[in-house]
Amino acid sequence: MVSEHGSAQVLVASNRGPITYTLNEDGSLDARRGGGGLVSGLSAIGSEAEALWVCAALGEGDRAAVRQGVGEPGVQMLDIDPAVYSDAYNGIANSALWFVHHMLYQTALEPVFDAEFRRQWASYEAYNRAFAEALAAAAGEGAAVLIQDYHLALAPGILRELRPDLKIGHFSHTPWAPVDYFRMLPDDIAEQLLRGLLGADRACFLTHRWADAFRACCTEVLGAEALPLAGTRIGVHGLGTDADFLRERAHRPDVAERLTALRAEVGPGRKTIVRVDRTELSKNIVRGLLAYRQLLESRPEWRERVVHVAFAYPSRQDLALYRTYMDEVQRVAWEINAVYGTAGWTPVVLHLKDDFARSLAAYRLADVALVNPIRDGMNLVAKEIPVVSDAGCALVLSREAGAYEELGEDALVVNPYDVMGTAEALHEALVMPAGERGERTKRLAAAAMALPPQRWFLEQLEALRG
Ligand code: F6P
Repeated sequence: MVSEHGSAQVLVASNRGPITYTLNEDGSLDARRGGGGLVSGLSAIGSEAEALWVCAALGEGDRAAVRQGVGEPGVQMLDIDPAVYSDAYNGIANSALWFVHHMLYQTALEPVFDAEFRRQWASYEAYNRAFAEALAAAAGEGAAVLIQDYHLALAPGILRELRPDLKIGHFSHTPWAPVDYFRMLPDDIAEQLLRGLLGADRACFLTHRWADAFRACCTEVLGAEALPLAGTRIGVHGLGTDADFLRERAHRPDVAERLTALRAEVGPGRKTIVRVDRTELSKNIVRGLLAYRQLLESRPEWRERVVHVAFAYPSRQDLALYRTYMDEVQRVAWEINAVYGTAGWTPVVLHLKDDFARSLAAYRLADVALVNPIRDGMNLVAKEIPVVSDAGCALVLSREAGAYEELGEDALVVNPYDVMGTAEALHEALVMPAGERGERTKRLAAAAMALPPQRWFLEQLEALRG
């Protein structure tokens, strides 16, 4: 038990925080604020509440900020030992848990849960303990603590032991693995993960499908009584888009400038198939390119008349597989351009440098939005493009994206592994009559805005306190 309590009444815990620092050569620090649903959601509680966001120092800049006492009110960064952090984040969270929940293993050779895995697991435990201890120390009596994601699956259980008085919520932003896939994990680890989440009063998910998968894992791994005995309630909160922010932001001059540049790259009178992703293994960018190639092959009438605008921003570059995947995306895009391109037409316009204003410009320009992940917790791009697009867009959507639960009816739904099927869906999207496209876009946008980030956050807070 922690004897001295802090005073925070609402606490959020996540690996990546709302701010990150870069260390300049002269030793000075530059701060960069992040966006995203959680940042926007937390702003809903306003400044009157005593709120604290506990996050990890991600790199040298953040560590320097912690050591120099530089920070923002309401944000506590944990300076976890870099080796422990790397094992927990790269080793366990992103190379094991992410792979399990997104079903990314090539199972003939992996996963291998060996001594190295066990060593990294000890770091994952230490990382989760560091968060739980910081939260336990900062939380006021009976405070609400909202713990985010697969990085922190053990933290609810540890925190429950330290502070039984707290109201603890956990939110999974990823899918949850089907039971047979989840059981690839060693039994004791699978059990520990589930018991970790059952330390929460509420375990929350983005869709009913992921919530059901979690329940099934509890039943199979821990027994039918485990969930009722723990008293953990399961919640589903389908995070939506912040339409007011996006629409306003998408009409600022920097976006207009990029829209002009993008139009010039595409060329006059051509249709666009737009995708915007982190270059993440689960996003299925390569099969998206192959489907586009198939479209040009089986429907040659589209040659010179369509451009695939693909933004694939770097992600998790510490992991070799992600670097290889990034190379493969570039190779396939290059090949399509080499085979089909002409003097006046570049079939694939690929950009790799993260630029939010240019992403919004592409959203505005999209005739077709391609969102074809292998598996995805939600996929907010699928919700953002219909909200922002100027002339309405047709959405080609993977049935494995969480967003399918809300958007499926008005999208052209694809099996993400089926390249021929995806090519045909792209064709149907391109020929969709303007009237139908407009009507569908309206309904897609309405569904996308149903639960904006602030309400998403407050809904959870109320349910936790209620
Ligand atoms: O999907 C889970 C998630 O945590 C998202 O909330 C976020 O977009 C992404 O993964 C972050 O990944 P990283 O912090 O490793 O870049």
